[in-house]
Amino acid sequence: MLADLVPHLRCPVCHCPLTGAPRSLRCHRGHSFDLARAGYAHLATGRLTHPGDPVAMVAARETFLASGGYDFISAALSAAAAPYSGLVVDVGGGTGHHLARVLDARQQPALGLTVDVSKPALRRAARAHPRAGAVLADTWRALPLRDHTAGVLLNVFAPRNPAELHRTLHPDGALLVVTPTPAHLAELRPALPGLRLLTIDPTKPTRLAATLDPWFCAIDTTTTTHTHQLALPRPLIRALVQMGPSAAHTDPSALAAAVADLPEPFPVTAAVHLTRYRPRQPPRCG
Ligand SMILES: C[S@@+](CC[C@H](N)C(=O)[O-])C[C@H]1O[C@@H](n2cnc3c(N)ncnc32)[C@H](O)[C@@H]1O
Ligand SMILES: [Zn+2]
Repeated sequence: MLADLVPHLRCPVCHCPLTGAPRSLRCHRGHSFDLARAGYAHLATGRLTHPGDPVAMVAARETFLASGGYDFISAALSAAAAPYSGLVVDVGGGTGHHLARVLDARQQPALGLTVDVSKPALRRAARAHPRAGAVLADTWRALPLRDHTAGVLLNVFAPRNPAELHRTLHPDGALLVVTPTPAHLAELRPALPGLRLLTIDPTKPTRLAATLDPWFCAIDTTTTTHTHQLALPRPLIRALVQMGPSAAHTDPSALAAAVADLPEPFPVTAAVHLTRYRPRQPPRCG
């Protein structure tokens, strides 16, 4: 854990500032937290609401992201984050892939932090970028971050807790949320009918707006949609399915057999909404 990141953190038990690094963090009331050998700080208390993405899912996501298939998302995030300074935190940030690219694109060097519950993802996130660290914490609990400490919050295909995002974001900062559109990977569902791949809920944007609205307002009047045509070899089709929400109920041998019948390369659309929000001052509730 970088020493420069520690002033942004708070004790998950008593919410006092943390000191320490590189091997452990503690607060003045004596709560102490070891850093995992892999480099991330375990700052969750109590039972986690989600076990985090498992090893196979994270490995598949790493394979797919390394192919550059979602680089257009990193580029869109980097552009949207450009006007804002300060710490960049990716909440539900997985392997730290997008965060690393956003940090690389910044004009002024900035620090970054990945927050996630998945240990295999955090092992990668801890070494995703020389100016980034990683913390194990649950989105649905109080985050171990100090008030208004982040200049930019990223939230890409991940759960979000509006009250905590609002508390941790600087009043002049921005929250960038990426969600899939109904066109996202749409070609895969009819091409792999036996796998019962999950569809994207068309009401998702409305529900997202409703949950964020008391805390944030959209800066961009319309949600930005990025559409990218991918021509994928079969191993990347398998990785796309294995890294997604359908992975848990998809048998790997059935997936391999189904993908073997697809033409190669197989054209797939990747389409996401990226919405930029500013925090309401004060929030409409809370
Ligand atoms: C679909 S992945 C997206 C990862 C990353 N944002 C990306 O786009 O590559 C969702 C991530 O959210 C994490 N996650 C799920 N529930 C969580 C929770 N309650 N608190 C923190 N992270 C959570 C998972 O472990 C996983 O890494
Ligand atoms: Zn404490």
